Amino acid sequence: MTDNADTPKEEAVARATDSAADGASSESDKGSSGSKNAMIESRRLCKYYGPFIAAENVDFSVPKGQVAAFLGPNGAGKSTTMKMLTGYLAPSSGSARIGGHDMQRDRIKGSEMIGYLPESGPLYAEMTPHSLLEYVGAARGMKANLDERLHFVAEKCALKSVWSKPIGKLSKGFRQRVGMAQALLHDPEVLILDEPTSGLDPNQVHDVRDLITSLAETKTVLLSTHILREVKAICSRVILIDQGRVIFDGPVDDLAGTEEQMEERFRELTATK
Ligand SMILES: Nc1ncnc2c1ncn2[C@@H]1O[C@H](COP(=O)(O)OP(=O)(O)O)[C@@H](O)[C@H]1O
Ligand SMILES: [Mg+2]
Repeated sequence: MTDNADTPKEEAVARATDSAADGASSESDKGSSGSKNAMIESRRLCKYYGPFIAAENVDFSVPKGQVAAFLGPNGAGKSTTMKMLTGYLAPSSGSARIGGHDMQRDRIKGSEMIGYLPESGPLYAEMTPHSLLEYVGAARGMKANLDERLHFVAEKCALKSVWSKPIGKLSKGFRQRVGMAQALLHDPEVLILDEPTSGLDPNQVHDVRDLITSLAETKTVLLSTHILREVKAICSRVILIDQGRVIFDGPVDDLAGTEEQMEERFRELTATK
C-alpha cells in the first residue's frame, strides 16, 4: 500500500520545490555526486506529520556504482527518506529520482530499477518464499526468465531449506533473506536496503554483509543502518542524518579513522542538544 496521494496541491508544491532544488543542485553537489550519472537523488525531500518534522531538506545523490551508508540514530528519518525515494510515501515537498525518473511523476519506470528492502520485511505470513517470490515476479511482469531468477535468489539468499515453509513460521534471519530475495528478483540496478542486518545473529550479519559486498560490484546501493561496523565494512560514503536533517555527507574516512573514533564522532554529531 502507499499513501502517495498525488493531490494537486502536493504536486504543485513538489514542482515548485523541484525547480528551486534544480537551481541549487550545482551548489549542493559534493563532487562525489555529479547529477549526470546519479542513480539515487533525494532533492530537498521534506516530510511533515502535522508540526512534526520527520525529514527536512534531505538533499543528496548517489552516483552509479557507489555504495552509500545512510546512517543515523533511531527516529532520525532514514526509513521515511527511503520510503520517499522508493515512491511508497509522498513527500510533503521536494522530489525523489531513481535513474533520472521522478518517483512522483514517473514512478513505474523508476520502480523497475529499484530493489527495496523495507524496514518491516515481507508481510504475507501465510505464503511461502516460493509462492511469495513467484507472486512478486508476476506482479513485476517477469515471464521468460522468472524460473532462472527464482533459482538465482534462492541460491544467493540461501533460501532452499525453507523454500516451501510459511514465511510466518520462519526465523527473523530467514524472513530478512526473503525480503532480500524479493528486492533482488528482477536484477535491479539500484538497491535501497533499510537496515538489512537488523535483528540478525553474528553469522547472519556476516552472510548479509558478504551478499551486499558481492552485489556492490555491479549495483548502486543505499543502505541504512545505525551500526558503524557495517559502514566501515561495506560503504565508501556516509550520509549521516539526525532529527530529519543531513548533518554529514562525505567519504567514510572523513567521518573518522578507526571504528572507535567513528563512534565518538557519531555521538558528537548526534548527541541531543
Ligand atoms: N506515520 C507517521 N506519523 C507520525 N510520525 C511518524 C510517522 N512515521 C514516522 N514518524 C516519525 O518520524 C521520525 C522518523 O522516523 P523514521 O524515518 O522511521 O526513523 P529511522 O528510520 O531513522 O529510525 C520518528 O520520530 C518517527 O516516530
Ligand atoms: Mg528505520
